[in-house]
Amino acid sequence: MSTVTIRPANLEDAAGLAHLAEYTFRDTFATNNNLTDMELHCAENFGVDVQRQELLDDNSVTLLAETADQLVAFAQVWLCSPKACVTAQHSSELHRLYVTQEWQGRGVAHELMSRSLSIAAKAGADAIWLGVWEENPRAIAFYRKYGFQAVGEHVFQFGNDPQRDLVMMTAIDESWIA
Ligand SMILES: CC(C)(COP(=O)(O)OP(=O)(O)OC[C@H]1O[C@@H](n2cnc3c(N)ncnc32)[C@H](O)[C@@H]1OP(=O)(O)O)[C@@H](O)C(=O)NCCC(=O)NCCS
Repeated sequence: MSTVTIRPANLEDAAGLAHLAEYTFRDTFATNNNLTDMELHCAENFGVDVQRQELLDDNSVTLLAETADQLVAFAQVWLCSPKACVTAQHSSELHRLYVTQEWQGRGVAHELMSRSLSIAAKAGADAIWLGVWEENPRAIAFYRKYGFQAVGEHVFQFGNDPQRDLVMMTAIDESWIA
């Protein structure tokens, strides 16, 4: 991990984040999905203006992992994100966590997860949740390593395809604060 550094994103990262977010999303899900749905989803969710709005949102924190010459992963935490099936006083959401294939299995995701849990704990959250496609076994296995358990489900509207996401949550406390 010594060649990767992690830092909070700022507004100047909007273009880089948009590219990374779309690239990793397509790379992860293109094989098992319909191209039309992918185009619809990407047109709506990725682009410099979309990611700039995300970076301007006070409720959202984006972390970037980068090497000397490129962005390789990111995580986005929504500091306050209530959800009916998540029993908590204050729940945060791990909204996105994506690592380029080259850097998977090498500790970058662990570092981003640790920092995300720390950010949520600092914001006063006692739980953090996420939605994950039921057909994404690697991500589900990864989340279980941090104590996430399925507590419900919701529909993730992917283009014209209503997909089933598991809602997973884990309790956190101040011991996560770095
Ligand atoms: C999900 C993600 C962040 C996890 O990061 P990672 O660096 O790959 O995670 P790790 O390698 O530490 O852990 C993944 C675990 O899944 C296991 N795994 C790998 N492929 C698997 C598969 N097909 N089925 C089940 N488990 C699998 C690994 O063995 C590992 O468990 P282990 O540490 O007990 O051996 C990363 O794979 C990623 O960015 N994937 C693409 C984007 C994505 O799916 N994001 C999540 C959207 S909700």
